[in-house]
Amino acid sequence: MAHADKARQGIALFGAQGQLGRALAQVLAGLGPVHTLSHADCDIGDETAVHAAVRRLRPGVIVNAAAYTAVDKAEAERDTALRINAYGPGYLADAALSVGAWLVHYSTDYVFDGTAGRPYREDDLTAPLNVYGESKRLGEEAVLARPLTAFVLRTAWLYDREGRNFLTTVRRLAANGPLRIVCDQYGSPTPVTVLAQTTRAILVHPRAADCAGLYHAACDGATSWHGFAEAIVRSFGLAVAVLPITTADYPTAAHRPAYSVLDGARLKEHLGITLPSWDQALADLFMERP
Ligand SMILES: NC(=O)c1ccc[n+]([C@@H]2O[C@H](COP(=O)([O-])OP(=O)(O)OC[C@H]3O[C@@H](n4cnc5c(N)ncnc54)[C@H](OP(=O)(O)O)[C@@H]3O)[C@@H](O)[C@H]2O)c1
Repeated sequence: MAHADKARQGIALFGAQGQLGRALAQVLAGLGPVHTLSHADCDIGDETAVHAAVRRLRPGVIVNAAAYTAVDKAEAERDTALRINAYGPGYLADAALSVGAWLVHYSTDYVFDGTAGRPYREDDLTAPLNVYGESKRLGEEAVLARPLTAFVLRTAWLYDREGRNFLTTVRRLAANGPLRIVCDQYGSPTPVTVLAQTTRAILVHPRAADCAGLYHAACDGATSWHGFAEAIVRSFGLAVAVLPITTADYPTAAHRPAYSVLDGARLKEHLGITLPSWDQALADLFMERP
C-alpha cells in the first residue's frame, strides 16, 4: 500500500492528551481521520484494551504518544514504569501487526549514560542511568523486535508554551526571584510541535515504507538546562537572574546523563528530514505565539 494511504486509512493516536499527543492531534489532522485515545480511553499497559481499541478502529497508522514520563518518581515505581513504557509498546506493536498498521513510537535520550562526549548515534551503546531510561529502552526494543513497519523516534527535552514542562516551570518560578538552574547537563530542547511535524514528514515521505527503524529526532545543537532557562527568560522578556548550579547542588531521585545530545544524521540521510537548531525552534515558537 502506498505511504499516503496508510494515514488516510486512519490514525489511532494513543496518549492524545499529553503534551506531544496534543500537538500530534493538530499536526496529523490533515492526513486522514485521527482517532484520539486518552489514558482514560485506553490504558496502553492493558493488552486486552489495546487489542480491542485497535480492532475497533482498524487504523493504517498507530501513533503512541502515551508514556510514563515521571523520571524521578519512576525510581520508586519501577513496575508501573515497566508496565507502561516497556510492555505497552509491545502490545501496540502486536496490535499493529494484527491489522497491518504502521507504528510510530517515541523514546528518549535518557537511554544513554551521557559519557560519549559527542552526539549519540542510533547504533551507540545504550546504558540508561535511571529506571525511566531502562523502561524506555525496553519499549523501543519491544517495538523493533516485531516484524512491522515501525518508526521509533528518540527525542529529548520536550516542551511547549503550555502544560507542564521546563519552559512553563521557568516562567512560573521566575516570578519568585532569581532562578538556580543546573549547568552541567547538556541536551537538545525540542518543542512538541517540531516533533509532531517531523512525524508528519516521515508519514508522508514517499519512501517511508522502506525506511522504517530507529531514528534520533531532537533539535540540532545543544545547551545546558541553565542555557535553556536563560533563553526562555530572554524570550519572555523577564528581568530575573539565572544562576548556574551543578547537578551535585540539586540532588534528584533519578540520575541523569551529563551529555545526551542526539545526532540527527540518520534521519537526514534516509529521509532528508532535518530539525531546526534548538534556539531557532524556541524563537519560532515565540514568533508563532508572541
Ligand atoms: N517530556 C520529555 O522531555 C521527553 C523527552 C524524551 C522523550 N520523551 C518521550 O516523548 C513521548 C511523549 O512525552 P510527553 O512529554 O508528551 O509526555 P506527557 O506530557 O507526560 O504525556 C504522556 C501521556 O501519556 C498518558 N499515559 C500515561 N500512562 C498511560 C497509560 N498507561 N495508557 C495510556 N496513556 C497513558 C498520560 O496521561 P495521564 O497524564 O492521564 O496519565 C499523558 O497524557 C513519550 O514517549 C516520552 O517518553 C519525552
